[in-house]
Amino acid sequence: MNVLVTGGAGYIGSHTCIELMSAGHEVIVVDNLSNSHPESLKRVEVLAGKSVLFYEVDICDADALSAVFETNTIDAVIHFAGLKAVGESVAQPGRYYHNNVTGTLVLCEVMANYGVYDLVFSSSATVYGDPASVPINEQFPLSATNPYGRSKLMIEEILRDLHVSDHRWNPILLRYFNPVGAHHSGLIGEDPNGVPNNLMPYITQVAIGKLKQLSVYGNDYDTVDGSGVRDYIHVVDLAQGHVKALEKLSENPGAVAYNLGTGRGYSVLEVISAFERASSKTIPHQFVDRRPGDVASCYADTSFALQELGWKASKGIDEMTRDSWNWQNKNPNGFVFESE
Ligand code: NAD
Ligand code: UFG
Repeated sequence: MNVLVTGGAGYIGSHTCIELMSAGHEVIVVDNLSNSHPESLKRVEVLAGKSVLFYEVDICDADALSAVFETNTIDAVIHFAGLKAVGESVAQPGRYYHNNVTGTLVLCEVMANYGVYDLVFSSSATVYGDPASVPINEQFPLSATNPYGRSKLMIEEILRDLHVSDHRWNPILLRYFNPVGAHHSGLIGEDPNGVPNNLMPYITQVAIGKLKQLSVYGNDYDTVDGSGVRDYIHVVDLAQGHVKALEKLSENPGAVAYNLGTGRGYSVLEVISAFERASSKTIPHQFVDRRPGDVASCYADTSFALQELGWKASKGIDEMTRDSWNWQNKNPNGFVFESE
């Protein structure tokens, strides 16, 4: 298939491009590079042994996006492009709604103009809000606690409405839990801007000496050791889930959501221990107050994805921490070179 990957230069997108190409698909990337570096795609080409057609295009720009559809035959779209920092979304809601929601509307309009109705969308476990229990299945009630989460929820609803209005639309909504890890080569990985908000990149930057110590947000949750529990999933497993979702599109599944997680939760302290084992580094840490908006425990019921997509995560916490460290250790400054 010829697959258009929006946001393909980013963290999850770049790993997915590799898995798509190794499954025999042709990949066309559009990305405005607002949160990524073109070097990531060069490395994707090295790893895949194939070139990637890249367009530096903003998905909000209908004309530029149309030109991509005009010059290429596109069978399906995997839509990663979006802004994803929760705190930033609280400070800049308009920017988040415009980029994420308007960007998706423009994308869908252009897709329909060119007769493309197959779409895999990057949703998030954040759409479950504060879940009443764990594990979380796809039928749980949906809610949002910040503009980023609300943008995902709005997009899910828009995509479901598109399917209701016209059954040619097949939007697959993939709800990711906590993506971590990197390609085992250490050539591509997560390259956050500024001080990371997320746990794993924060830990790797402490390990490499860029940050002094980790603050563990809360030690009094009702969890195994008082720290927050999440369902960390290796980004390569996640990328393979997208290939399975793409295959599912041939069955015209309509609007359907799948959890992509491992089904197993780890506490912050368990992640620190696993990372220390994998890296032979000590991660200095201190307990601080809970981070507002955090939930105690969040992990997936993954049975629907297994049943419907034939997909199951295979990499455990040791591979996740090993590969996160390998990437950070080989690329202390991410994709930015010393000379830049
Ligand atoms: P990322 O920032 O590394 O990748 C997103 C890419 O989209 C970047 O390369 C960015 O430059 C590009 N982009 C943003 N706005 C664009 C626009 N208007 N036009 C064109 N390109 C644009 O993030 P990621 O971690 O790879 O996440 C990919 C998707 O998965 C996002 O939609 C994100 O919300 C979602 N998601 C991520 C996580 C996570 O923890 N990483 C969890 C759940 C869902
Ligand atoms: N944590 C710390 N210290 C830190 C960072 C995080 O203790 O410096 C803790 C958090 O309190 C939480 C766990 O580590 O218990 C994971 O936190 P992350 O920030 O890595 O991830 P979240 O679960 O908060 O959120 C992530 C993405 C969201 C997405 C959500 C569900 O950042 O965008 O997963 O997919 F919506």
